[in-house]
Amino acid sequence: MTQLQIFLDIATEAALAAGVVLKDYLGKLEDAVTEKGRPGDLVTAADKASEEVILEVLRRHFPQHSILAEESGKLGNQDNQYLWAIDPLDGTTNYAHQYPAFAVSIGLLINGVPQVGVIYDPFHNELFQAAAGLGATRDRHTIKVSQTSELSKSLLVTGFAYDRRETSDNNYAEFCHLTHLTQGVRRSGSASLDLAHVACGRVDGYWERGLSPWDIVAGIILVQEAGGKVTAYDGSPLKIETGRILATNGYLHDSLSHELLQVPPLSAWK
Ligand code: IPD
Ligand code: CA
Ligand code: CA
Ligand code: CA
Repeated sequence: MTQLQIFLDIATEAALAAGVVLKDYLGKLEDAVTEKGRPGDLVTAADKASEEVILEVLRRHFPQHSILAEESGKLGNQDNQYLWAIDPLDGTTNYAHQYPAFAVSIGLLINGVPQVGVIYDPFHNELFQAAAGLGATRDRHTIKVSQTSELSKSLLVTGFAYDRRETSDNNYAEFCHLTHLTQGVRRSGSASLDLAHVACGRVDGYWERGLSPWDIVAGIILVQEAGGKVTAYDGSPLKIETGRILATNGYLHDSLSHELLQVPPLSAWK
């Protein structure tokens, strides 16, 4: 068994265990929901309990590895060759409202490059897995991106960052522009599921700003291994720390990138 396969298996064990925690807490949060500082930026007892389970599994198997986890922050030297990026509950707002779009996302960066990704949607019991050179799967069956090659025939998905009230750089204009050019733009509220859905062809492309590494590391390798393309908005190599991502089936990449670079101001829609 290759080392990457071992990493993938352990990440899967952690994601499935975390999924059990999320199913257990669903609908039972009562007052165990707080805001992290910004309006709408929630954290719940389920986020924390899920993260504890993931940390326990990864630390038991890989005590030398470092971790970047949404609720615990930086654990270990972040320059470590092996860095796990963990989102124990991606889609917390959905989860708190019992809206069924949330996931566990566990990705591994090796020397800064996404190499392993597991995204588990416990509500629908869907497991997405990928590792560099090993392909991408949903429930252990190979998945591929869609073949849609015209924006006018595409379905896209995006998201709005928590700082949207504080900055005019908030994706509203992009949303309007692309809603007019496509068959539709969805907003699921779970970045990792958005990427998983690009990977399996349910949507043709995804873009978003204001993301953190734990939102996207797993999804990046999943889309790439499913045959898609992941870059910065302008098509240049992705820098994860910028928080901006463009992920598509590849066929739409240039046209979507082109449109993102020439979005009319919001006032154009009034
Ligand atoms: C959020 C979700 C959402 C995206 C936000 C993320 P969280 O993660 O992925 O879809 O639009 O930018 O922060 O807080 O639910 O883990
Ligand atoms: Ca997230
Ligand atoms: Ca989260
Ligand atoms: Ca969060």
